[in-house]
Amino acid sequence: MSANTTDATTDDADQFPNDFLDIDDLTREQLSTVLTRASELKAGKDLTQLPRTTLAMLFEKPSTRTRASFETGMTQLGGHAMFLGPEDIQLGHGEPLKDTARALAGYADAVMVRTFAHENAEILAEYADVPVINGLTDDAHPCQTLADLLTIREEVGPLGEVSAAWVGDGNNVGRSFAVGAALAGLDLAVATPEGYGLGDDVYDRCADLGTEPTAVDSPEEAVADADVVYTDVWVSMGEEEKREEKLPAFDGYQVNADLLADTDAAFMHCLPAHRGEEVTDEVLESERSLVWTQAENRMHAQKGLLVELLE
Ligand code: CP
Ligand code: NVA
Repeated sequence: MSANTTDATTDDADQFPNDFLDIDDLTREQLSTVLTRASELKAGKDLTQLPRTTLAMLFEKPSTRTRASFETGMTQLGGHAMFLGPEDIQLGHGEPLKDTARALAGYADAVMVRTFAHENAEILAEYADVPVINGLTDDAHPCQTLADLLTIREEVGPLGEVSAAWVGDGNNVGRSFAVGAALAGLDLAVATPEGYGLGDDVYDRCADLGTEPTAVDSPEEAVADADVVYTDVWVSMGEEEKREEKLPAFDGYQVNADLLADTDAAFMHCLPAHRGEEVTDEVLESERSLVWTQAENRMHAQKGLLVELLE
């Protein structure tokens, strides 16, 4: 269960959760079902439609992939996605989130939210009596994890046989990926600078799922046996003022040709990337890079999630 889940879970392990706030709101079986559904939708073998269905999309941070993939995904499913930016709606002018939640639930069949504090997503889930999907909070990015696991399954190998490395900041993307890796049975080595780890709660949740990540001392150690190396920006949205304080800690954590010289590992990044910081242009643009498949798979994975949540 995600650490701060509200109504995202149910006593019945087989019943799909009401909300999707983090990856471990799904059971292992439900995760597998979503990924399989995503693959079948992507291949055109599953023609499920969600006609007259509306997804309200609440964005308090910028987005390219999340916005575009949910919007096109809903169009392909025969539904509609409604973009709500902070300046456009009363939320940005002082209306409480819990009021926004109840109003949107009166129109939309589901709400996707990208916000700052994870608690905001929980408040929405508590007050909206339609499914709430986390499109990124400061703590978690579970839709990204769905796409990442789909990509690994397509491009690297069966999830239970893959070793991954997380190198860099222990941020929202890394936290959800680690828990998703545990849920899916991937081995994960984690190299994060002191003070910027994934968080003890993530290790505890992974342990509960039966596969704790291995925290290692250096990026070199993390990538040594990895089939896939994953990194993300060192300064996430909302912590720009911490940039000068954070960057020195990441010296030596860049994913570059030297780090990957002795491995054939694939490279992953959720994007957007800061070339020259956490990854070089050379690695990002190399044959080993899976980033464009990851980006496309956001749409397919989310379609798998939407049909499971809404049909
Ligand atoms: N990876 C991801 O969530 O990208 P956006 O910020 O462009 O949505
Ligand atoms: N960690 C990044 C991910 C962006 C998709 C951020 O939160 O800004």
